[in-house]
Amino acid sequence: MKLIRDPKKLSEVLTKLRRQGKSVGFVPTMGALHAGHLSLVRASNRENDITVVSIFVNPTQFGPQEDLAKYPRPLQRDLNLLRVAKADLVLAPSVGSMYPEDLGKPLKIQGAKWPRLAKGLCGKFRPGHFQGVVTVVAKLLDIVCPSRLYLGAKDYQQASVLKQLVLDLGLGVKVRVMPTVREKDGLAMSSRNRYLSADDRRRALGLSRALLALKRGLSKRKGPLTVLRAQALRELKKSSDRVQYLGVVDPSTLRVLKHSQKSMVALAACFAGKTRLIDNVTIHRSHQ
Ligand code: PAJ
Repeated sequence: MKLIRDPKKLSEVLTKLRRQGKSVGFVPTMGALHAGHLSLVRASNRENDITVVSIFVNPTQFGPQEDLAKYPRPLQRDLNLLRVAKADLVLAPSVGSMYPEDLGKPLKIQGAKWPRLAKGLCGKFRPGHFQGVVTVVAKLLDIVCPSRLYLGAKDYQQASVLKQLVLDLGLGVKVRVMPTVREKDGLAMSSRNRYLSADDRRRALGLSRALLALKRGLSKRKGPLTVLRAQALRELKKSSDRVQYLGVVDPSTLRVLKHSQKSMVALAACFAGKTRLIDNVTIHRSHQ
């Protein structure tokens, strides 16, 4: 495994490898890696000759009140994990090499459709967040030019936005969205879980529990969507310090649903102490 700091250098290395006919899988991350990230690396390894992982805490996707400064950056530990997971190339660029111009200049694409997927849910509570994600991922895709891009279903809205970005840019890259990896008790793995105190950690479980209860109710047609959603929200409010949203949406448009349909996604964001948590479940309604 090779660590490369300079995006231009990585581009050169990859151009050579592509000329040799090698397929390239790409896993973008912000580091502080856990089993969720590593599942993406393994998926890429199964499907590509070369796996590239980026580790970059992207400043443009953090709001002014968010945790950019304290976001964990355990680079050596991350590199050890990636070596074990058999990544081939790791890009860990500086902020200056990713944003040589100006941090304030977001990527604009004429006629882009991704913004309509970025409006609701997390987009409502994190203004500018998805613009930052889109900007950095577009830059990374331009550097890596992968055959396949690996994303986690844990960040369902992000994956939807990025799938649309790939279409908006007219790129040929295949987007593969892999299942959420969870702790034994059901908590979705996240780099931010390390912020949780013992008490927060116990209460954080309320998120996956509320979503799973909602999934059970909806898939078994236990009642109208609005009633089941209100129940789940009440439960989540008990365990969490603040709920930002709990919504049931259409899997492709992310439009909030008032009535149950065949396929749905339930998503929520809440706080345990000062730590923001998100999670989601995909729901398929059973036959009568
Ligand atoms: P980060 O939070 O580090 O996540 C990197 C990738 O890992 C994302 O695709 C995310 O969905 C996936 N992931 C995180 N937790 C997961 C879990 N428990 N199970 C499966 N996959 C999981 O998401 C970002 O970084 C950034 O926004 C990024 C796309 C890198 C742009 O800066």
